[in-house]
Amino acid sequence: MPKDSIALIGFMGTGKTTIGKALAKYLGEEYKFIETDKLIIQETGKQIPIIFNAEGEDKFRKYEISVCEKVSKLNKVVISCGGGVVLNKKNIDNLKKNCHIVLLNAAPDEIYKRILKNGKETRPVIDSEDPKEEIEKVLNFRKPYYHAAADFVIDTTAKKIKNIVREIVIKTQLKT
Ligand code: S3P
Repeated sequence: MPKDSIALIGFMGTGKTTIGKALAKYLGEEYKFIETDKLIIQETGKQIPIIFNAEGEDKFRKYEISVCEKVSKLNKVVISCGGGVVLNKKNIDNLKKNCHIVLLNAAPDEIYKRILKNGKETRPVIDSEDPKEEIEKVLNFRKPYYHAAADFVIDTTAKKIKNIVREIVIKTQLKT
């Protein structure tokens, strides 16, 4: 059976939620938009920074693995994946079963602006005194993981949402 779901991967602030919502809407009523972070919050009853602080990142990654396993079994979903899903190969192996994996990229400066706008305190991975430097450091470390996982890459820095959606739909051939 051809793959009928899409997983959006990429660093925080690359537009996974915004693009994911627009993409699911464009694909029609059958499609649902879901976010791995939201499912973790629902299942644990705790916000992400609380999990990081009280239980640690390793425990958060375990919740993430369990959620990825569940969502990878769903048909016709657009999944916005937490920025760190690529760190565990298991997640990508699971998502690849029924998802086209699309990497969203953005320039580090743009990521920094978007993260500040949405509240840095909600992003426990960036917790240093110098967030700009931290973003570049984490981004560089993760780059090979993101690219190895992706079927294709889209830069979101200066593009209109509708054009990004169109590009994804054409490349995945999900709607003719
Ligand atoms: C993380 C990104 C966050 C969230 C958690 C860890 C990461 O998701 O899963 O804070 O490791 O990059 P977003 O990419 O949706 O912000």
